[in-house]
Amino acid sequence: MSLNRVLVAGGSGFIGSHVVARLSAQGVRVVVPTRHRERARHLLPLPTVDVIETRPGSPSFWQALEGCDAVINLVGVLHSRWGDPYGPEFREAHVDLPARLANAAARSGVGRLIHVSALGAGASRETLPSMYLRSKADGEAAVRAGGVPFTILQPSVVFGPEDAFLNVFARLQRLLPVVPLAQANARLQPVFVGDVATAVVNCLRGTATLGHGFELAGPEVFTLRELVQLAGRWSGHPRPVIGLPFTLGQIQAGLMGALPRPLMSTDNFDSLRVDNIATGPISPALGITPTPLAAVAPAWLSRQGSRLAAQQARAHR
Ligand SMILES: NC(=O)c1ccc[n+]([C@@H]2O[C@H](COP(=O)([O-])OP(=O)(O)OC[C@H]3O[C@@H](n4cnc5c(N)ncnc54)[C@H](OP(=O)(O)O)[C@@H]3O)[C@@H](O)[C@H]2O)c1
Repeated sequence: MSLNRVLVAGGSGFIGSHVVARLSAQGVRVVVPTRHRERARHLLPLPTVDVIETRPGSPSFWQALEGCDAVINLVGVLHSRWGDPYGPEFREAHVDLPARLANAAARSGVGRLIHVSALGAGASRETLPSMYLRSKADGEAAVRAGGVPFTILQPSVVFGPEDAFLNVFARLQRLLPVVPLAQANARLQPVFVGDVATAVVNCLRGTATLGHGFELAGPEVFTLRELVQLAGRWSGHPRPVIGLPFTLGQIQAGLMGALPRPLMSTDNFDSLRVDNIATGPISPALGITPTPLAAVAPAWLSRQGSRLAAQQARAHR
């Protein structure tokens, strides 16, 4: 389809920034709504990108949809207060916003909605182990019911130079002599952020994915323990990783979840109770060949290791 103007909700975030840069490089005019302009400052130099400070409660958010050929939804949160079946922050970001986006897009005659959900959210809601996944499942249902031509993508955990995943594991190993790890044997199939951005743009441009949901995962399955070990090794600070027994892991997650910017919460712990791996090969309709972790992660993790070492050396001078 011809793409003149695309709204990228969540465009200021980790995956969104890659998608926005990709579209901008193709000459597409991109509108990025953000609640805090400062969060999107890295997008301001991009020639075809308009950053607008607004929030979904405000009319200007919805006015930004006018004249858009397509909408990409990358809004997501990792933490929420408790609720049944999910807490208010998960409801707002993962269910209410996609529902309103899909309805508003349909009303405005937007041609496509690409909705980024999460691997595992396609199962029946009652069987899902966490509030995060349950809210993602209901968000998918809202998009399917919204009346706009859609594609749903379900990535496993996403890695890339700016991720809050391998980078955090690497930083922890700089600081701690050992890593006590909850759910160490959980299995994941991490996917490269560049591949996710390519898949999003391919879905937008073609029609093969219309009306379907797709799992999006990398070429290899790792346990969480293996991923922490690789992050330590590639950043130059390998530490012993000690898998915590279930109850101790749950307590650790509960304590960490009480911190202002938690690395882990009880709900994250619950998400890891089921393996986060694709049910089959990645669909050729997405037009990607998933990048192996070892092909890209050592380069940025080793740079991060050297940068942190230099900072520490300066601090101790
Ligand atoms: N990263 C992963 O490993 C991963 C794995 C599977 C699925 N996903 C999904 O992929 C999507 C993008 O993930 P990401 O890692 O790029 O996330 P991210 O870096 O945390 O960015 C999230 C974005 O959502 C926006 N946002 C959050 N809460 C909002 C709210 N209540 N109202 C409006 N905007 C809100 C933020 O915008 P402002 O703060 O600028 O307003 C930000 O741009 C999410 O749906 C996530 O669940 C991510």
